[in-house]
Amino acid sequence: MQPADLPQAKVSIQDLSLQYADGTESLRGISFDIPANQITVLFGPAGGGKSTLLRCLNRLNDLTEVKKLDGKILIEGENILDPKTDVIALRRRVGMVFARPVVLPFSIRSNLTYGLELAGERRKSRLTEAVERSLSQAALWEEVKDRLDDPAIALSGGQQQRLCLARVLALQPAIILLDEPTSGLDPISTGKVEASLQELKKTYTVVLVPHSVQQAARTADFAAFFLQGELVEYAHGEEAFTNPKDQRTEDYVTGRFG
Ligand SMILES: Nc1ncnc2c1ncn2[C@@H]1O[C@H](COP(=O)(O)OP(=O)(O)O)[C@@H](O)[C@H]1O
Ligand SMILES: [Mg+2]
Repeated sequence: MQPADLPQAKVSIQDLSLQYADGTESLRGISFDIPANQITVLFGPAGGGKSTLLRCLNRLNDLTEVKKLDGKILIEGENILDPKTDVIALRRRVGMVFARPVVLPFSIRSNLTYGLELAGERRKSRLTEAVERSLSQAALWEEVKDRLDDPAIALSGGQQQRLCLARVLALQPAIILLDEPTSGLDPISTGKVEASLQELKKTYTVVLVPHSVQQAARTADFAAFFLQGELVEYAHGEEAFTNPKDQRTEDYVTGRFG
């Protein structure tokens, strides 16, 4: 069940099921492809399994109590659920931004260079280049370029969230996962993050869990509707919000529940 003209898959999710230790079946036989250079939105009411699925994509579920995980997630053909996967390398390719920005207690600049230095980058020119590039891509450069050595915690909430996005971008992942990244932000900061996602998709594969149906409709190239662990519908963004095929999708996007 996916759009006929879906561009080439970057990620292919195949019959993915996940059950937590307490017996909760959070994903039930999910199969769909996520295309490169598009914004793919996972939306639906709380408890649908959206965050669980994002965490599978960079193996963050390794850290939680999972009883059963079946199926495959192919990234460029490689099954990342294979126990032999290099999880550190995977997380460098698949970056994640969470709902609440957590900046490191360092300067703005160090927040961005930290990950690269950990990865062994010592060349000053490379670090400087990464700072400007990542801040520009996250639509934050103009606001902070004259105070890169100020503590990151002095930034506003909206700026901190864009710094967290920049921190992920500094590592040049291939895929960026964002789990309700603007849920705590004012409308202006939200607009800036959404605008930067439109730029980012030119270079990256973007997977977004939006914080509202309205944001889903504004941002989605492709949209997957999740309900209680099931993928109910997967369609072009336009179609999912204006002409959904499944009654449950229609009821949700028109505000009948949620
Ligand atoms: N660590 C966990 N242990 C047990 N159950 C969990 C855990 N995380 C999420 N769940 C349950 O899995 C289901 C899906 O949750 P989640 O993936 O967070 O959905 P969403 O992001 O769509 O709101 C919910 O029923 C939730 O309570
Ligand atoms: Mg969630």
